Amino acid sequence: MKISDFELFKSLLYERSGLVITPDKSYLLDSRLTPIAKKWGYPTLESMTLQLRALPDEKLIKDIVEAMTTNETSFFRDTKPFQIFQDTILPVMLEKRKARKTIRIWCAACSSGQEPYSLAMILKEKEAQLKGWRFEIVATDISDDILDQAKRASYSQFEVQRGLPIQYLMKYFMQLGEAWQLKDEIRNMVRFSNFNLLDSMSRLGSFDIVFCRNVLIYFDEKTKATILEKIAGQLENDGFLLLGGAETVLGITNKFVPNPEKRGLYIKAGTPAVTGSTTTGFSPAGTTPAKTTSSFSSGLFKRT
Ligand SMILES: C[S@@+](CC[C@H](N)C(=O)[O-])C[C@H]1O[C@@H](n2cnc3c(N)ncnc32)[C@H](O)[C@@H]1O
Repeated sequence: MKISDFELFKSLLYERSGLVITPDKSYLLDSRLTPIAKKWGYPTLESMTLQLRALPDEKLIKDIVEAMTTNETSFFRDTKPFQIFQDTILPVMLEKRKARKTIRIWCAACSSGQEPYSLAMILKEKEAQLKGWRFEIVATDISDDILDQAKRASYSQFEVQRGLPIQYLMKYFMQLGEAWQLKDEIRNMVRFSNFNLLDSMSRLGSFDIVFCRNVLIYFDEKTKATILEKIAGQLENDGFLLLGGAETVLGITNKFVPNPEKRGLYIKAGTPAVTGSTTTGFSPAGTTPAKTTSSFSSGLFKRT
């Protein structure tokens, strides 16, 4: 790819999604965007680039941004955040919200839905204890394609073998041919919508718990700081933020402080320290894990 074409895609992706693409990743542009050029009827990636320079088409730009997102996810990914949700955050929040009995959760980059559906299954398991409570799980992503998959909630054998306890598979999914369909009782607990983390968050309302995992890693420090500070604006003062294992607020913003004992867990700066029960060896509500398999400016494309 010509350096000028690389620079064009680099600024488009940065301005539209925050994604930072370095020269050593230019092979990713070739491999992921060549199919987009074909889909749009361009004989080569170069001819699509020429068109993009001459007359940028919003739908084409959207396809390019979506093609460059990394949608890697799995049920109960990394286990620990879900253990922290169940054993630490939930008991604390049930106590703090006992007057209004409503808890709002935001999965800020939900990919194909496994993260919000994992939370929904944990809550479903506690249905009896949570009688009279209202839980709202809002799940957002920048990609319409991945959101369509999330809403369908149909997963492959491979996807259900990654982190989903076998008991949950049996209880909450139906086998339809080669696929596993999540039952409506869990599906209906999650509300999906398209949201770009670069946008103003005020329309989303306020949240008690925010999962923003494994997306900040694709951004530069400035973008990370802006997003984290906007999240702080949407999070209740006594709320909780969970980041991915390779993500931190340290050196980026002082709006949050980490819990030193629970990796990935943050509270807003200036709020009392986290308390709550601690359990080890998390296995969602007494389940055994199913078999596990091994297991990212020119101003030309600024949105108006
Ligand atoms: C690696 S997945 C993480 C999924 C899930 N949170 C997890 O930890 O398993 C990252 C997701 O972030 C989304 N994403 C990337 N840039 C975004 C942006 N600017 N706004 C919202 N979502 C974005 C991608 O489409 C992708 O689905």
